[in-house]
Amino acid sequence: MNAVSGQVPCEWTLVAAVANGGVIGKGGALPWKLSRDLRRFKTMTMGHCLLMGRKTFESIGRPLPGRQTIVLSRSGFPGAPQGVTVVSDLSEVQRHVQPERRVMVVGGSQIYRATLGWCREIWLTRVLADVDGDVLFPDIDWDRWKMESSESFEAGPRDDWPTEFQVWKRKANH
Ligand SMILES: NC(=O)c1ccc[n+]([C@@H]2O[C@H](COP(=O)([O-])OP(=O)(O)OC[C@H]3O[C@@H](n4cnc5c(N)ncnc54)[C@H](OP(=O)(O)O)[C@@H]3O)[C@@H](O)[C@H]2O)c1
Repeated sequence: MNAVSGQVPCEWTLVAAVANGGVIGKGGALPWKLSRDLRRFKTMTMGHCLLMGRKTFESIGRPLPGRQTIVLSRSGFPGAPQGVTVVSDLSEVQRHVQPERRVMVVGGSQIYRATLGWCREIWLTRVLADVDGDVLFPDIDWDRWKMESSESFEAGPRDDWPTEFQVWKRKANH
């Protein structure tokens, strides 16, 4: 949040899949297989800019095709592959974003926590299951957010769990 004006400084969108109890990861990876959600993720992020933490980038292992990749790393991430922009401070991100691309914050937990104040939308996949994990989505004051839509999906043949896809928008003056 911009401390001077109280306004959210950017129009970023946070994209996350969260199981019961806030679980989002285990052992440096996703603790589920959700083919439907991956397809949705691909469609929704195509052509845009993915902003992620160094650990999440390493779990994916490569820049995703058709999208710009910006990785946040305080240590500079010397092993970053070509095609990845490494940025050490959030305030530097926006100037690296290529024209016409929307910034999508895609995790992990540290990056969700750090960028929440910069986001106007949350695209949330609720994973309707108790899943074992060691990385949690940050606590969010949902009173500051309004759910615009919600859609339920049974688990398909290549999904571990049923899901609910929700779009949340930040309320005015929050
Ligand atoms: N379910 C989901 O939707 C979802 C999405 C994404 C990831 N995940 C899971 O989440 C886990 C990884 O999350 P994580 O929280 O451990 O790690 P992370 O947020 O992906 O990355 C953490 C790293 O980002 C850098 N960093 C953190 N805050 C920073 C800041 N303010 N400025 C600059 N750099 C900063 C640091 O890199 P350096 O150490 O290089 O300095 C830090 O070690 C994995 O299990 C992954 O599979 C789940």
